Amino acid sequence: MCQPILQAKSLKKSFGDNQAVKNISFEIARGEIFGLLGPNGAGKTTTISMLAGLLEADGGQVKVAGLEMGLNANRVKAKIGLVPQELALYPTLSAYDNLLFFGRIYGLKGKQLRQRVAEVLEIVGLSERAKDRIDSYSGGMKRRVNIAAGLLHKPEILFLDEPTVGVDPQSRNAIFESIEALNKDGLTIIYTTHYMEEAERLCNRIAIIDKGEIIALDTLSGLIRQLGGGLVRVGLYNGKAEQVYEEVSHMPAALEVNRLDGEIIVKARETRSALIDILDITHKLDAQVTALEILEPNLENVFLHLTGKSLRD
Ligand SMILES: Nc1ncnc2c1ncn2[C@@H]1O[C@H](COP(=O)(O)OP(=O)(O)O)[C@@H](O)[C@H]1O
Ligand SMILES: [Mg+2]
Repeated sequence: MCQPILQAKSLKKSFGDNQAVKNISFEIARGEIFGLLGPNGAGKTTTISMLAGLLEADGGQVKVAGLEMGLNANRVKAKIGLVPQELALYPTLSAYDNLLFFGRIYGLKGKQLRQRVAEVLEIVGLSERAKDRIDSYSGGMKRRVNIAAGLLHKPEILFLDEPTVGVDPQSRNAIFESIEALNKDGLTIIYTTHYMEEAERLCNRIAIIDKGEIIALDTLSGLIRQLGGGLVRVGLYNGKAEQVYEEVSHMPAALEVNRLDGEIIVKARETRSALIDILDITHKLDAQVTALEILEPNLENVFLHLTGKSLRD
């Protein structure tokens, strides 16, 4: 990667005994949409808060465009926009007036400020409602005002923390479209989510995070290649599960076998021949099969394969 726009090296953060972020390192290229995908509590918000200079790390290093965060905090922060999950908007003021207020905090003034507020409202598709009070907005529209606020100072990197949680489908699409348009104009985007479909749709590369660690990082197709020829899920009544597991583990068609509660997940060289072999084994052992299916090659199942648990709680 030539001159990454963002480098994280061995980042760590604990809250008391809880190691929220364990030892995270990665690099992001200019112009990427980079996804941080993981379940609730995985450490996504803690990670991006450190990357954006909002939270001090216990250890490790962040560099933005080659500048070290700690030493150049103000220069670095000027390059960064952060859209947190919660942002206090004044409910009785319009979106326009809220944005004027945030713009002044960034030091914008006069005609330049009004022009930029109009631009960012256009980007998030709220120009027509700009003069309406925030308390008349849907949750999704408020979220879009958050995004507009994060863009006021023309950052080079935009962090979006789960921007579609609790958002109506119309705003969700508007958010996706704004992100894609901004990225086309050269903005680098770091997007956290626990929805695999969003990571699949938007992101060039995806880091899967669980329990404060990045357990995989690749393009979507690279991550899916980790499933070999595919996954086969076998549900079993308890009686013979141990013996079935033992024999399935030795099948030539199996690359890897994991045991979960009453289930076996087989990473196969090729799923159809694995299915046939599995049926042979269960038949021979007279084991009762409660489920047998080929799992879709998607991120949900990459996560299942890597962690033995489902991404959806
Ligand atoms: N300010 C805080 N004080 C104490 N614990 C925290 C704080 N922020 C996060 N945590 C804990 O750190 C872990 C990671 O949280 P977080 O980064 O918010 O995860 P995510 O954004 O992926 O849902 C969780 O166990 C959470 O409870
Ligand atoms: Mg979070």
